[in-house]
Amino acid sequence: MEILSKQVHKFFGQDERRIKEHYPGITEKRLIEELESFLVAKCRDIFVYKDDTRCIEGSGYIQEFFSKLNDGVPLAYITGKSHFYNLEFVITPDVLIPRFETEILVEQALKELQKIIITDTKIRVADIGTGSGAIALSILQASAKSLSVVATDISEKALKVAKKNYFMLEFSIDPKSTFEIVQTDKLRNVEGKFHLIVSNPPYIRAIEDRPFVHKNVIKFEPAVALFIEDAKYDDWFRELLFQVYNSLYAEGIFIMEGHEFHLDDLLELANEIGFTGSVLKDLTNRKRFLRLVKTKNEEVVDG
Ligand SMILES: C[S@@+](CC[C@H](N)C(=O)[O-])C[C@H]1O[C@@H](n2cnc3c(N)ncnc32)[C@H](O)[C@@H]1O
Repeated sequence: MEILSKQVHKFFGQDERRIKEHYPGITEKRLIEELESFLVAKCRDIFVYKDDTRCIEGSGYIQEFFSKLNDGVPLAYITGKSHFYNLEFVITPDVLIPRFETEILVEQALKELQKIIITDTKIRVADIGTGSGAIALSILQASAKSLSVVATDISEKALKVAKKNYFMLEFSIDPKSTFEIVQTDKLRNVEGKFHLIVSNPPYIRAIEDRPFVHKNVIKFEPAVALFIEDAKYDDWFRELLFQVYNSLYAEGIFIMEGHEFHLDDLLELANEIGFTGSVLKDLTNRKRFLRLVKTKNEEVVDG
């Protein structure tokens, strides 16, 4: 491990400014940990890889690691994993890397679940745009109540990652809970009503908001997870809110992560549809989430 520390120290010394530009806030200590975990994953089974000199000598994979760092590849895509809500998730370039602030959405969802009292059926939860499954699986894992969770995504490749994560975490989830994956647009054709719907949808306007996005996010993370065309933005969210409204039971709750510049407009739209609700802030006091309640037992038609 001494060798790894020395190599990371050397790499850092060569161009610290550029490394910190690619990886804001990164430390040498963190890089050593990530390199160790990368090597362990690559060379987990030394017997399988006994002919792989990159494993035996270590050096080939170390060079691969540094070369990816030079290109600015996000650490989660290099190591193939990321931590979210105290759980480890498999991550590939087909899914968004789960963000720390999204844990607030999970916390809020768990608070809402505590308040729901039903006895005749399981609490039904939907996660729209599940990606790696980070939100849905964290809720399933941490909930004190048995749940029936439906996770949707438009991306087939993302859903494969969500499925893998479910298999990895299944043992830590209440066996009475269920997890279903559906490939669809938002909640289209998903049957039945839900007590709670959560979502971290793509919410960046492709042109207007692009200057505020880190260049490596644009370069490496899936566009479908990030952007909505500016001209389609309002219609996209209008459709989402209508689908959600009609899929909630009366008194059902919708919690959504969104863009700080657009949440007030979305709240206005939600009020027009029939929701009551508010914008919630994150730990840095930035507008970050919508919490909406469907107060009436009705269905509405977009028109
Ligand atoms: C911001 S990512 C969130 C991923 C994950 N829930 C998280 O919080 O880390 C948005 C996700 O929505 C999915 N998505 C984009 N358009 C969609 C649509 N029309 N219907 C369903 N999912 C969609 C993307 O594939 C992506 O996985």
